[in-house]
Amino acid sequence: MNDDQNLKRVPKHLAIILDGNGRWAKQRHLPRLFGHRAGLRKLENMVRLVKREGIRYFSVYAFSTENWNRPKMEVDGLMSLFRYYIRRKVDEVKKEGARIRFCGRKDKIPEELAKQMQWAEDYTRDQNILDFILCINYGGRAEIIDAVNNIIKSGRQDPINEDDLKKYFYLPDVPDPDLIIRTSGELRLSNFWLWESAYSEYYFTNTYWPDFDEQELRKALDDYAGRERRYGGLKS
Ligand code: IPE
Ligand code: IPE
Ligand code: MG
Repeated sequence: MNDDQNLKRVPKHLAIILDGNGRWAKQRHLPRLFGHRAGLRKLENMVRLVKREGIRYFSVYAFSTENWNRPKMEVDGLMSLFRYYIRRKVDEVKKEGARIRFCGRKDKIPEELAKQMQWAEDYTRDQNILDFILCINYGGRAEIIDAVNNIIKSGRQDPINEDDLKKYFYLPDVPDPDLIIRTSGELRLSNFWLWESAYSEYYFTNTYWPDFDEQELRKALDDYAGRERRYGGLKS
């Protein structure tokens, strides 16, 4: 197999919409937050597996700009869980050679969590095997609006192209996701990577996120490996 074929087989950027935590908990007659905790725990091992597959960018949708509409107790609980998870797991993630990055709007995030996020980014900045991207308070529409407003602020007058716009996104250096997995049986994007997903491949599974395991990941990656991406062109 030549390099080109190799590149086709493994997504360079894998994105996962972590969905189904609430239903996972409900199934077990547990409060929803137990589902979120189980979901976050799942991420530890996933970072290891993803790295082993040779994936370079791994992004996860953990909290959307719309998730603030949930009951305050759930939102507060999630923010505490994020803080706890970052504090407890950053060393393990770093040991894997992964750099932690956050993607999303910085407003509304509780101050203590915001500080912890900044610290985790600084602490792992030199790692270069895997970029582990946590999308918290992320919305695809918000990202596009923020980019446009920042262009206006910059005083630019002349027309822009796609590359110009991308430079103003939250993580301009990160390539578009090749494969987007969504768990829990929902068949939608829910405002994730709107612009960036123009040519992404999708994989849906009914499994709730806390039950998503190595085997499931394997299945998704095998499925992806068999797809032909044409980008509007013709079969090569
Ligand atoms: C995904 O699980 C995690 C977040 C959106 C924070 P959900 O909380 O959406 O779980 P379901 O969809 O209610 O089962
Ligand atoms: C999408 O899940 C957002 C995250 C996984 C963070 P939701 O559960 O919020 O999406 P909808 O409401 O079912 O579309
Ligand atoms: Mg959901």
